[in-house]
Amino acid sequence: MRSLVRETHLRPSALLYPLFICPGEGVRKEISSMPGCFNLSIDEAVKEAEECAALGIGGLLLFGLPAEKDEQATGAWAEDGIVQTALRELKKNRRLDSLVQIADVCLCEYTSHGHCGVVARDGDHFEVENDSSVALLAKTAASLAKAGADIVAPSDMMDGRIAAMRDALDEGGLEQTAIMSYAAKFASAFYGPFREAADSAPQFGDRRSYQMDGANMREAMREIDLDIAEGADMLLMKPAMPYLYVIREARGRYDLPMGAYQVSGEYSMLHAAFQRGWLEPERAMMESLLGIRRAGADFIVTYFAKDAAKVLG
Ligand code: PBG
Repeated sequence: MRSLVRETHLRPSALLYPLFICPGEGVRKEISSMPGCFNLSIDEAVKEAEECAALGIGGLLLFGLPAEKDEQATGAWAEDGIVQTALRELKKNRRLDSLVQIADVCLCEYTSHGHCGVVARDGDHFEVENDSSVALLAKTAASLAKAGADIVAPSDMMDGRIAAMRDALDEGGLEQTAIMSYAAKFASAFYGPFREAADSAPQFGDRRSYQMDGANMREAMREIDLDIAEGADMLLMKPAMPYLYVIREARGRYDLPMGAYQVSGEYSMLHAAFQRGWLEPERAMMESLLGIRRAGADFIVTYFAKDAAKVLG
């Protein structure tokens, strides 16, 4: 009877699994703060993707660790960039057809300073320049779409990026590529482990000039309004657990498909408790995911995607 009257359901096809692609061959390097997650070379990423497809997972969210970084984030938009190359391999493999290939669009993994955009420096003062960053981000989105991304997912939080990306995609004949906007992304301590995983910690300053203040609900809604007006096809809310009621509020206001990102810190803190025997892994994992769905997310980006899919069967 409990199952008959259940209001919220989890299914593998509404889970997205992040992958961190690195150069080399046969590389499978565990991320110390994220047990069970790895930096993977392309050949290993393909194996991981095959496992995800077999488990019925909905898609992948791809991040890249380039061999070299510079001030212009060349690796982000280069035709032979790490994620572009990975996308071509993944798209070639028929066993992966059921997976939606989503490319994260940001510059932080590719800039030598680790900021999400172009930095102008004047002595001790620095500024992340909005407009020159947007130009590079749009170029990055078009290049990832051309390499095969079904969806591009900008996580940089610069202003005006969605409109610029839509234009760049349309001009490149990539009208079919959808944009999933990280519309409401809060400056959060919970991204800590990701910065190890993606080697993207800012070398100076922090991300508060472009990511949102966790105290601001109305501003979050305004960011979403702007992204919808600029042409976003779907929305991503992030982090999830400390912001569940923001997801709820957005679900009530907007009709666009909406997902939530259970970020690295949410995963790591649960794992830390699992390691100490303080929480029951399977129950705590499923409860954390169900809470996000109940708040109103249609789909969830989660490092637990494979583990949860195995439980769901
Ligand atoms: C890139 C980006 C970040 C995350 C996703 N895209 C890091 C950040 O903004 O610092 C975080 C994801 C996670 O913590 O799992 N800008």
